[in-house]
Amino acid sequence: MAPPTTTTTTELGIDVRPVAGNIGAEIHGVDLREELDDATVAEIRSALHRWKVVFFRDQHIDHAQQVAFGRRFGKLTPAHPHEDAPPEGHPEILPIDSRRYNKFFAGAPADAKKLKATYDNGWHTDVTALVNPPAGSILRAEIVPPYGGDTQWTNLVAAYEALPEPLARLADSLRAKHSFGQPIFEGSEYGKKIKANPLVAIHPVVRVHPETGERALFVSPSFTSRDNEIIDFGPRQSRAILDLFYEQISRPEFTVRFRWNPGDVAFWDNRATAHLGPSDVDITAFDRVLYRVTLEGDVPVGVDGRESELVAGQQFLGS
Ligand SMILES: [Fe+2]
Repeated sequence: MAPPTTTTTTELGIDVRPVAGNIGAEIHGVDLREELDDATVAEIRSALHRWKVVFFRDQHIDHAQQVAFGRRFGKLTPAHPHEDAPPEGHPEILPIDSRRYNKFFAGAPADAKKLKATYDNGWHTDVTALVNPPAGSILRAEIVPPYGGDTQWTNLVAAYEALPEPLARLADSLRAKHSFGQPIFEGSEYGKKIKANPLVAIHPVVRVHPETGERALFVSPSFTSRDNEIIDFGPRQSRAILDLFYEQISRPEFTVRFRWNPGDVAFWDNRATAHLGPSDVDITAFDRVLYRVTLEGDVPVGVDGRESELVAGQQFLGS
């Protein structure tokens, strides 16, 4: 019997090497410093749709090359709705820089400050408090700690498909409120900035992916973390049902864990995944610096064809 395939080599000679059973593949044979042709872009997109997050090792691209790579897949948004200090000349780049978080969390409890290697270290899909959350995110590592600081992703399509049928039907019918701002920001300068520009959206709990047609369990714990977030449910019912879904999306078999090296790039489909920032880095001892760009997203659509609703804020558009 032939051994099972571990690598798919495409017509262009690009290797797609899955790294976990349900999510995540390394792509080899592509140099992100070079301008990519349409066929290569199409193959990366197809691997992204299949594996939800793809990894490129040892690329060492700079801000301009990251922006150019991102633009091959769509419009890029500004760095973040609450970001006011992107790198000079690169308004699309969001620094995930442990050295900045000491400032961000000034006023927050000391233990929180010590652990914060990222602005959000709970499971989340990027910026789902927007009515049009980013379609994709591209993150590259520049400085990584000698140990700790891995990122994990989970496949929200696999999580949905593994729900018991009656629970999937219930999920199909629900909508939930997503708001920006975790309790950890309270009292800090960053917290004040969020309060001044609130972002709130109501999304279907199951969204239909506009390109693959797949259904994803679109709950984003960091953004749907308060009581009374499932529309028409009371606080206790909402908490109970969200806990069920959160447990489902964080089951280990739907996840992949990525150990960063400097120069690595991760590109995820933000419409079909959630991810978990690390909380195991002592940023008073080690620096951790990564840079993110996000692709402009569409307004999610539920199983019943209904779109998400904007409650506060505005659409986040790119160029
Ligand atoms: Fe994130």
